[in-house]
Amino acid sequence: MSGFSPDWLDLREGADHRARDAALEARLADYLAGRETITVVDLGCGLGSNLRGLSRVLPGRQSWRLVDHDPTLLAGARERLAAWADAARDDGGGGLRLEKDGRQITVSFAQADLAGDLDGALACSAGGAPDLVTAAALFDLCGASFLTRFAQAVAARRAAFHTVLTYDGRETWEPAHPLDAAFRDAFVAHQGEDKGFGPSLGPAATAHLARAFADAGYAAHQGESPWRLEAPRDAALIRALAEGQAQAVAETGRLAPDAVASWRAARIEAPRATIGHADLLCLP
Ligand SMILES: C[S@@+](CC[C@H](N)C(=O)[O-])C[C@H]1O[C@@H](n2cnc3c(N)ncnc32)[C@H](O)[C@@H]1O
Repeated sequence: MSGFSPDWLDLREGADHRARDAALEARLADYLAGRETITVVDLGCGLGSNLRGLSRVLPGRQSWRLVDHDPTLLAGARERLAAWADAARDDGGGGLRLEKDGRQITVSFAQADLAGDLDGALACSAGGAPDLVTAAALFDLCGASFLTRFAQAVAARRAAFHTVLTYDGRETWEPAHPLDAAFRDAFVAHQGEDKGFGPSLGPAATAHLARAFADAGYAAHQGESPWRLEAPRDAALIRALAEGQAQAVAETGRLAPDAVASWRAARIEAPRATIGHADLLCLP
């Protein structure tokens, strides 16, 4: 099981969508403009947030394949996409035919482990290679050799690649707390543990991916997608984020329990926080 709860993914979706780098999306839209239909694979799709965030800049006919190893999240994605669309019907094979703002979007769902079966995960619903491989909030969970293998697999298909919301290690909490730097270091250390893709690169994942795609002859464009969180709008997300980080840091044993408790108590009520993420677009 992934350990990503539907509650957490629902909670972050608004901040994720506000944060996405619009300039990179516009560049991707330009690259794909003129195509009537495009095929897309979304890896680690969770509840389908990336489709809801990206489809509005893509051509009018889209065929998405949503891949995750967690069947509960895949079922949740199906439910949320049907509710989000202007019109939705079953395609008779477990997928959906959606209409949204004049776009026709077909969606299929696949349960697969990316680490174990990357080629299967990258397959397109219609067969052949997808035009676009995308993922949101996934690659900071991955290790160097998986990321290199992944970039080579995408490049072998000559697909475009776009990813958003890879944690970049930069955090600013207001007001400052004396333990912020120690906390951030301990959190990054926790993130470096193996999440099923080898020891995770965490904040170093974007640079590694960009290099791997450049080595495969792609043009790599980097962008930024920081969460700019502010209470009261984002109070629930700030609280959940602080709780999650405090738990992760406690698990490392790097800070004393009373230090963790002090940071947590200050942070769950923080009025503002900026959490850095990177986006990346790689074009063949
Ligand atoms: C942080 S969540 C992001 C979900 C979604 N992309 C979003 O932006 O809301 C990471 C996702 O990757 C999925 N995941 C993690 N490891 C995976 C693996 N080995 N194979 C397939 N999916 C995986 C999780 O189930 C989860 O849905």
